[in-house]
Formats: sequence, structure tokens, C-alpha cells
Amino acid sequence: MEARCSFLLLIVIAFSSIIEVIAKSQYTTMYVFGDSLSDPGNNEKVSANYWPYGIDFDKGPTGRFCNGKLLVDFLGELLGFPVIPSYADTIANGSDVLSGVNYASSGSGILEDSGYALGRVIPFGKQIDNLKNTMNQLENQMQTEELNNYLAKALVFVAIGSNDYINNYMIPVLYKSSLIYDPQQYADLLVQLYKGHILELHTLGLRKFYLTEIPPVGCIPIELTIHVATPSGECDSSSNNLVQMFNIRLKSLVYNLNSENLGSIFTLGASYKILNDLRDNADSYGFKVKDKTCCRIGNTIGKLICLPKEVPCFNRDEYLFWDFAHPTQAANRILARVVYNGTSSGFPVNIQEMAEM
Ligand SMILES: *[C@@H]1O[C@H](CO)[C@@H](O)[C@H](O)[C@H]1NC(C)=O
Ligand SMILES: *[C@@H]1O[C@H](CO)[C@@H](O)[C@H](O)[C@H]1NC(C)=O
Repeated sequence: MEARCSFLLLIVIAFSSIIEVIAKSQYTTMYVFGDSLSDPGNNEKVSANYWPYGIDFDKGPTGRFCNGKLLVDFLGELLGFPVIPSYADTIANGSDVLSGVNYASSGSGILEDSGYALGRVIPFGKQIDNLKNTMNQLENQMQTEELNNYLAKALVFVAIGSNDYINNYMIPVLYKSSLIYDPQQYADLLVQLYKGHILELHTLGLRKFYLTEIPPVGCIPIELTIHVATPSGECDSSSNNLVQMFNIRLKSLVYNLNSENLGSIFTLGASYKILNDLRDNADSYGFKVKDKTCCRIGNTIGKLICLPKEVPCFNRDEYLFWDFAHPTQAANRILARVVYNGTSSGFPVNIQEMAEM
């Protein structure tokens, strides 16, 4: 009897160390915070919930600002997760929250004000409140210690800040921020609020953070249309310089958070460089068009999104941009791979490396 027990015990130990090896190499779950670059359909009002959006997506239009999948959809696949549901879907339809939840909201930013003129958006702070609701749900499914371990191995993916510029600071007729703050002060303010949000996520038990830079907004089709004087093939440098002030501070923040040794790992997602590289090397990835939109867009403020029912370009895999600001599915597929395990896509590590830490 005793021999049999220790035999069983041995099997149990061997088995749990196998589980440990598997668990060590991957994340338990994935939480996404951000704006329309990551939003899978959290907004009722600010939404791409009509054709031709979703023309290449198996479920058709969902609210994704894309013809198909978003970067975070591809990233979820690379990490081996089933489709990560939107927070709205977990509330409305009770979708399973165990493999992750996407809280991103189109039009939203770090500041509560950003994007308000577009309709009801869910700012970063409110997205974190929504995560707390998910956590209440998880508390019913797991014991405290199990939940703590699970949260410590969750991937937190944050891609937010573009709208604090393109739907706030850069539109002085609607938003007063540029009259109150100079560009340096504004970047300081954003990063200070951002830090507060990250520390709140840390307090909730999260330990692995991928914090992305703001991409080069001066290269998106709409900025090239607004800044007509931009030489062909170049980006609007004034917009890019503005967001780089945020990015520089974000880099210091990541450095400081890591050195404060919070038992966590924070990594900077090099979105600015990653998107610039993709643009510079567009040809070698098979992209023929890098500054025009694939769908036809309106030409008045508030109507810049794809016009409903208008047939988009056919060669969608040859366009970098789908609409006025968002990459095509083809571009997102490449971006996700780079973000996942590209060399120098994250500092100090990329997402794959962070999983193993
Ligand atoms: C809930 O599910 C239905 C049917 O699949 C879908 O049409 C709807 O968009 C879902 N709601 C949300 C908020 O995702
Ligand atoms: C990146 O991940 C892909 C998919 O898992 C894999 O095929 C590739 O070898 C990885 N590249 C590096 C540099 O680790």
C-alpha cells in the first residue's frame, strides 16, 4: 500500500512538473487595453459596424476598424489562445473570460476627454474598471492562490495614446488642451496619468506588461491629407514630433518601473519603430500602396471612416492602410509577428521572451 502511494505520488510530481514546464513557456490569459487599433467591438456608437468593414473577417462587420483581423487577434493566435472576446461580448453574451478579454475602445485615450466628440468612448481608466468586473467573475471560478498565480502570468497589452493627440491635442477647435499645455507639459501629463493606471493594474495582481509607444501618426493617410504640403512619400513631421515626446517619456517610465523592482516585468513595445520599418520596407513585404486608403472615405470631419456600402479596393493585401488611420489585415498579420518575437520589437524583451521570465 505504501509503495503504491509513493508510486502515485511520483506520478503526480512528474505530471505537475510537466504542467509547470508548459505553464512556464506561455501566458495564462491576455488583457488588452487600447483604442480603435485594438477594439474588437466594444463601442456601440463609435463603431465600424457596417460593410465594407469586416469584408475579410469570418464574422463580417464586428466593430473592428479593419477589413479583417486586428494585430491583437493575430497576437492571440500566436500565443495559442482562442479568439479573445470583447468585454462587451462577455457582458452581453456571457463569453468565456478565462483566455482573456479585450477592453479596447475606439476613440479612447489616456485622458477622459480624448475622443469625447466622437460619442461615448471608454477611456483607459474605465477600461480598467471593466477589468475589475471580469476579476469578480474569476473570483467565483478560482481559489485566491490559484487566481493570484493566474494573474501573475497574464499578458497585459496596452496600446493607447494616439487619440490623446489626433482626437484631442491636434484639434484645437474642439479640445482646449493645446491652449493649456505646451507639447512637453502635455506629454508629461499623459505619462503621469498612464503611470497611475499601470500601477493600478499592478495592484490588481498583474505582473507582465507590454506597453506600446504611440505609432507615427504623421504617416496615417488622414494626416497626409490634412497636411497637404507633406512631400510625396514622406510623413508629417510635426505630428510625429509631438507623439515622440510621449514615447521618450514612456521609455523612461518603463525603465523606472523595472528598476523599482515591483516583482514584475515591464517591456516597451517599439510601435513607432516597428511601423516606420514596415513603411520603409513596404515593397519587400509585398505592399504597393502605403499612403492611400483601400476603402473610400468621406472628406468632412466626423465622416472620415469608410463610406458605407462603397466597394473597397480589390488588392487589399497590397495596401498598408485600410481606412484613414488603420492598417489592413495584411499589415496587422506582419505587425503581430514582429511584436510577438521580432528582434528589437520590445525593450528589454519581446512578448515571447517575457513569457519565459
Ligand atoms: C452577442 O452575440 C450576437 C450573436 O453572435 C452578436 O450578434 C452580438 O454582436 C454579440 N454582442 C456583443 C456585444 O458582442
Ligand atoms: C517566432 O515565432 C514563430 C512562430 O512561433 C517561429 O516560427 C519563429 O521561429 C520565431 N522566431 C524567433 C526569432 O524566435
